[in-house]
Amino acid sequence: MLGVFATVDFAEYWEEAMSGMYETIEVTPHEAGFGAAVTGLDLSQALPEKTLEEVKLAWAEHGVVYFPDQPLTLDELEAYTLQFGVYGDDPFIKPMDDRPHILELRREPNETATNFGAGWHSDWSFQEAPPSATILHSEVTPPVGGDTLYADGARAYEDLTDEMKQRLEGLMAIHSAILPYGSNGLFAQETEKRTMKIISSTKAETTQLHPLVRTHPVTGKKALYVSPTYTIGIEGMDEADAQALLGELFAHMVDEKYVYRHKWRQDMLTMWDNRCCLHIAEGGYDGHLRVMHRTTVAGDVPV
Ligand code: SIN
Repeated sequence: MLGVFATVDFAEYWEEAMSGMYETIEVTPHEAGFGAAVTGLDLSQALPEKTLEEVKLAWAEHGVVYFPDQPLTLDELEAYTLQFGVYGDDPFIKPMDDRPHILELRREPNETATNFGAGWHSDWSFQEAPPSATILHSEVTPPVGGDTLYADGARAYEDLTDEMKQRLEGLMAIHSAILPYGSNGLFAQETEKRTMKIISSTKAETTQLHPLVRTHPVTGKKALYVSPTYTIGIEGMDEADAQALLGELFAHMVDEKYVYRHKWRQDMLTMWDNRCCLHIAEGGYDGHLRVMHRTTVAGDVPV
C-alpha cells in the first residue's frame, strides 16, 4: 500500500482533482492558468462554507485570484481576511489609525518617492513564518499605470533543467529585510516626501533561512522561493557564487512567460499566495492618486 502512495505525483493528482471543481463560484483562469478572476459571490458577506472552500482552492490553484466589483468597508475587509486565518504580522510600516491590521498603500499625486512595493518580492519572506496570503483592495485607482505584476514561482521551478533542480536541492536561502528597511536601507536614505510611514530599523537587519525551493502545503507543487528584495545569500555558499546563482534564478523567475500583469479597477479585491509567487508594484502613475488597503494572513514555516 505504502508503495502505491510513494509513486503518486501529488502535483499531477492535484491538477486532475481540480478539473470541474467549482460549483458555487465562477473561476476564469488566465491563459497560463496562473491568475484567475472569481465572480458570482459577494465578499461583503460571510462566505458560505462551500464557497469559502472553493475560494481557497481557486487561490491555491491559480496563485492570484481577483474579485471585481466588490466595494468593501474596512470592517468588511477585516472580516473577509479573517475567514482565511489569523492576521499576519506586518512590520516596518505604520498601520492605519485604529486598524492595526490594515496598511493603507497611499500615494498622493504630488509624491515623487518610488511607489511602495517597487521590487520583486514575496511578502515578508524574512519572517520565520511569512504570510500565506496578502489581500489588497483598491479604493482609488489611477487612470494610467498602477499595475501589479505577479510571477509564478511554481512553473518557473518546473521549467528548470534536471541539473539545476539537483543543484538547488537542499539549499537554504538567506532572507532579510535589510535592503529596504534596514537602518541604512533604501527607505532610510530616501529624501523625497512619502505619505506612507515606513519604520526603518536595525530589527530589519536580522536574517532568516528558508528552503530555496519550497513545497506548497495544499497543491504539493514545488516553487522557487527567493527574491531580489529579500534574499541576500545562500547558506554555506561563497558570496560571489551565491550572487551569481541568485541572479540567474531571479532573471529566470520573472521571465515574461511566468508573469501575470494585473490591471486594477476600483473596488477590486485581489488575493495572492506568497508561498508560490512573487509580485511587484509597477508604478507609472505620477500625478495621480492611488489608494489601496492591504491585510495579510499568517502562514506556516516554509518547508
Ligand atoms: C505590495 O503589496 O507589494 C504592493 C502592491 C501594489 O501596490 O500593487
